[in-house]
Amino acid sequence: MAVMASGSGSNAASFFSYFEQHPSIGVALVVTNNPDAYVVERARAAGIPVEVISGKMWKEPEKVTAIFDAYAINAIVLAGYMKLIPSFLVRRYPDRIFNIHPALLPDFGGKGMYGRHVHQAVLDAGAQKTGITIHLVNEQYDEGPVLFQKAIPVLPDDTPESLASRIQEMEHYHYPRVIEQALLENQQISSKYT
Ligand code: GRF
Repeated sequence: MAVMASGSGSNAASFFSYFEQHPSIGVALVVTNNPDAYVVERARAAGIPVEVISGKMWKEPEKVTAIFDAYAINAIVLAGYMKLIPSFLVRRYPDRIFNIHPALLPDFGGKGMYGRHVHQAVLDAGAQKTGITIHLVNEQYDEGPVLFQKAIPVLPDDTPESLASRIQEMEHYHYPRVIEQALLENQQISSKYT
């Protein structure tokens, strides 16, 4: 698979370590739009090649698909990738592009809902629960079919930072495992609130 990330890459790192010794699935490539993102250093440290695909390059689908083909990519994991995936790539990898969102979609999703904004919106709304959503990617932000959800309670003294920290811990545990299962079984895992 290729992991696509624009920022710190802590989820990307959880994939590097989870799949390092895996018998049939591996991370072959990291794609970023930001050559200065910390995920680039994490990938180098893990010995995983990095390709920077700029906004300009996305306008040339043949060049982009040639990059993915060069690494024999057949699944794509978005891990904090900040750009919309163009339709040519969605069509090329049907049901093979995954994303994680740090809330219980369809709530608190969509354009502009990333990072701290999500947790602040959860607190502002007085939500009782939040959590993580792992879903297939279609041509809209955060709208593809849900594969997995896990909820946690919002506590009275929670801040955006405390929610972010509990949620990231869940992401690092569940994201690689859900993707492993999805790729091995090639079937959707029923969505489940806990
Ligand atoms: C994660 O919290 C994920 O839910 C969202 O982007 C964030 C990326 O964080 N899609 P990191 O770069 O993996 O630390």
